[in-house]
Amino acid sequence: MLLHTSPASPFGRKVSVVLHETGLVAKVRRRDASLTPLAPDAAVCAANPLGKIPCLELDDGSVLYDSRVICEYLDGLHDGPRLFPAKGAARFEALRLQALADGMLDTAVGLRYETFLRPEPLRWTDWIAAQKAKIERALDRLEQECPRFGERIDIGTLAVACALGYLDFRFAEDRWRDGRPELAAWYARVAERPSLLATRPG
Ligand code: BEZ
Repeated sequence: MLLHTSPASPFGRKVSVVLHETGLVAKVRRRDASLTPLAPDAAVCAANPLGKIPCLELDDGSVLYDSRVICEYLDGLHDGPRLFPAKGAARFEALRLQALADGMLDTAVGLRYETFLRPEPLRWTDWIAAQKAKIERALDRLEQECPRFGERIDIGTLAVACALGYLDFRFAEDRWRDGRPELAAWYARVAERPSLLATRPG
């Protein structure tokens, strides 16, 4: 299998974390692509017409995207504890949490492009403020919810860890830990997992 990804992509990181958690790292070759929405990568576009990473080329020539689909596929390839609970309330709780974390990341990556790529005179400050408010609301909700995470490791909690890691990587000046002691303490613990240590963005 060939994974198109990037060391800076938080969605690519989520897939890498799942590869580590499931013991599948050696089964996947990795190709780091350098791309932005304005400078797409030809090999990525050939695999995924949306031009987005991560995407995973399987040995039979088929391709999987996006990160949620790839992560669930990989979770079906190992014999350890499942990161995607099979059914019931636990499954939908993990999927909801992943959706919350991925939504934060969609917003944060959009903001990154808005501030990094878009020429300054074309920037829309109200839009930027609304996107930042969305992330703040999600963080506040996680502050309420995370005492219930305990030691739970599933696709939901791993996705949250990747989202917080990306905020540290690209938006450290926004200081997401301020006023959120529970979330900060939970993240400090989970970030010590080998899968997260091995995949720190850069
Ligand atoms: C970043 O540099 O922040 C980034 C790179 C690839 C995908 C998403 C974000």
